[in-house]
Amino acid sequence: MEVIIHQTYAEMSRAAAEAVADVLNAKPNAVIGMATGSTPLGVYQELVRMHKGGGLDFSQVTTFNLDEYVGLPTTHEQSYHRFMHENFFRQVNIPPQNVHIPSGTTSNYRAFCAWYEQRIEECGGIDVQILGIGSDGHIAFNEPASSLSSRTRLKTLAKQTIDDNARFFSSRDEVPVYAITMGVGTIMEARKILLLANGAKKAEAVAAAVEGPVTSMITASALQMHPDATVYVDEPAASKLKMREYYDWIQKKKPDAPRV
Ligand code: PGA
Repeated sequence: MEVIIHQTYAEMSRAAAEAVADVLNAKPNAVIGMATGSTPLGVYQELVRMHKGGGLDFSQVTTFNLDEYVGLPTTHEQSYHRFMHENFFRQVNIPPQNVHIPSGTTSNYRAFCAWYEQRIEECGGIDVQILGIGSDGHIAFNEPASSLSSRTRLKTLAKQTIDDNARFFSSRDEVPVYAITMGVGTIMEARKILLLANGAKKAEAVAAAVEGPVTSMITASALQMHPDATVYVDEPAASKLKMREYYDWIQKKKPDAPRV
């Protein structure tokens, strides 16, 4: 994994947005894997800015979101459908029919999950996947002990995740207990992965994911097995990385590295 440390959340978000824009510039009909949560908001703001100010075009883009809470209607303030619409989709020109978000209200979750996997495949697979990381090391809602080859499925959230996400609801009791989520195996098939983390609360999870053993107890650690995963962190989130100086050294030396 490549680890890129920025001083601030804004700089980190800009760098990750540029990586997404590079994919889009090379392949205007790219398939983007989208994440929700507070972490990717800066990336979305930056992509919207590039769209409005710099003409970054999303008209041929297809998207797949990682997950959705079970039981929340799409109009619910905390549904990921609503989150994506407000924070990204309504501000760029992705055709609505190209947007895919897991359904939290389907009458048949098993069939829906199989269809979601099939749709990803039909669209040619995910070119670039944006990811956050939970304080328990999860990616999407793949909680500790999730199979590292899991596919899209219904998942029971960990108490830690319910606690973490309670801040978005008026009470802890309102946080859904179940979610539908892409699996670790689904995520690992993306051609390029950008994992983002900011703030001291993520420092331990980041260190475990990047420098710990590959383990289903920290599902983000599976990314060590991915050929093109980059970790974007701010200073507080990088604070527990043992090899931090080396990561900075790599970035410093990158421009002079032999190109062929
Ligand atoms: P956050 O969530 O961005 O709101 O911290 C990250 C996650 O749980 O994946």
